[in-house]
Amino acid sequence: MSQAPAALGESPIAPASSLPSYLQADKLGPWGNYLQQVDRVIPHLGNLARWAETLKRPKRILIVDIPIHMDDGTVAHFEGYRVQHNVSRGPGKGGVRFHQDVTLSEVMALSAWMSVKNAAVNVPYGGAKGGIRVDPKKLSRGELERMTRRYTSEIGIIIGPNKDIPAPDVNTNEQIMAWMMDTYSMNTGSTSTGVVTGKPVDLGGSLGRREATGRGVFTVGTEAARHIGLDIATARVAVQGFGNVGGVAGKLFSETGARIIAVQDHGGTIFREAGLDVPALLQHVTDTGSVAGFADAEVLADEKFWDVDCDILIPAALEQQITAENAGRIKARMIIEGANGPTTPAADDILQERNVLVVPDVIANAGGVTVSYFEWVQDFSSFFWDEEEINARLVKIMKTAFAGVWQVAQEKKVSLRTATFIVACQRILHTRELRGLYP
Ligand SMILES: NC(=O)c1ccc[n+]([C@@H]2O[C@H](COP(=O)([O-])OP(=O)(O)OC[C@H]3O[C@@H](n4cnc5c(N)ncnc54)[C@H](O)[C@@H]3O)[C@@H](O)[C@H]2O)c1
Repeated sequence: MSQAPAALGESPIAPASSLPSYLQADKLGPWGNYLQQVDRVIPHLGNLARWAETLKRPKRILIVDIPIHMDDGTVAHFEGYRVQHNVSRGPGKGGVRFHQDVTLSEVMALSAWMSVKNAAVNVPYGGAKGGIRVDPKKLSRGELERMTRRYTSEIGIIIGPNKDIPAPDVNTNEQIMAWMMDTYSMNTGSTSTGVVTGKPVDLGGSLGRREATGRGVFTVGTEAARHIGLDIATARVAVQGFGNVGGVAGKLFSETGARIIAVQDHGGTIFREAGLDVPALLQHVTDTGSVAGFADAEVLADEKFWDVDCDILIPAALEQQITAENAGRIKARMIIEGANGPTTPAADDILQERNVLVVPDVIANAGGVTVSYFEWVQDFSSFFWDEEEINARLVKIMKTAFAGVWQVAQEKKVSLRTATFIVACQRILHTRELRGLYP
């Protein structure tokens, strides 16, 4: 006798519980947004749709307690996560975020977007993500190191060069990756450079990795602009988030002649119609930690950022920034998602109706993981490539992947996001089907 399909998070055989499943998305956070994106792709998956539930369930979630000694003699506890969403195509791969707002829902969504992204650019990885709920700016360097090392030890049972390979994300950097690599190596008894990517170049890192995500944003942005007849060299660009991704993307766009007219970060929003001096702004951020206080720019109220008259908008900060509330006000012709999950599905619909092209995160910011893949390959072979070769390979992969996604979007008359999900989910579910179910 066939049973009616269970609602997400419910077992078909266990009685319904009054407590919610962690899989439920009734409070629409990032995981809820991801589930809606998956639902939009299922009608395009043909026979593979019977495996689609796989996409809605992370394979493995580890929640860890991270106790550390603080400098003042007290003991503090932090909440840490590592989620492996899908490993059908290879080991888990995805960054580690240190942020005070990290939640399980967020890390689940970020891990799932990694599965999609890695399949979209066809690197041999599954998707994973990690995070600690902490404001690292409030920790001393010693506290930060102790927290990073304890977190790495706690998740050490599920990460490894062939299992799951973390990388930098918001508020984590090369130094954090060096501590993670060292901790894992100490615990396993041999130097294991391939356990994380985004390491310092002197420790098995790759040339070009630091700039890779921004370079990828620039590469696919340029391709997309060509398709819609938008001239990059005269474009006015607004960037939200001026860290690793937004800073590098802003620099590359400005070097082509584009004007970066507005930048927003956690410290505030600045504007200059004639274009901001990007090298000077990057130096200011390095010196002070924020774009706030930059001379030679007007200060805008944060909310006004979304009203700025520009041609290209690059969200490169956090999720859920472009929502049904502000999507109708955005003047840009094209949005290139440097951040993960910056646009909600409701905002996607509004933007599509208004003919604003959205180049989605799952292809636009895949440059970082692509060069992470190169780093991992270089670590395994202990043979390192020069930067020219790395950038050339990166650009080739990004252009090829984007061309494929563009074609699917045209053929099926769907958004670039749904097209990217179609390409990626077919790859993921095809490998799922080939491998079969164990046992
Ligand atoms: N680093 C990578 O290689 C990589 C790869 C793919 C995707 N991403 C995504 O790109 C985004 C940015 O990551 P990053 O590595 O550049 O981080 P980062 O820590 O280097 O920079 C984050 C930036 O966001 C700004 N920001 C934080 N909160 C903000 C707020 N409330 N309003 C406006 N700005 C705010 C910060 O001030 C900073 O400028 C994230 O969504 C991340 O997941 C990063």
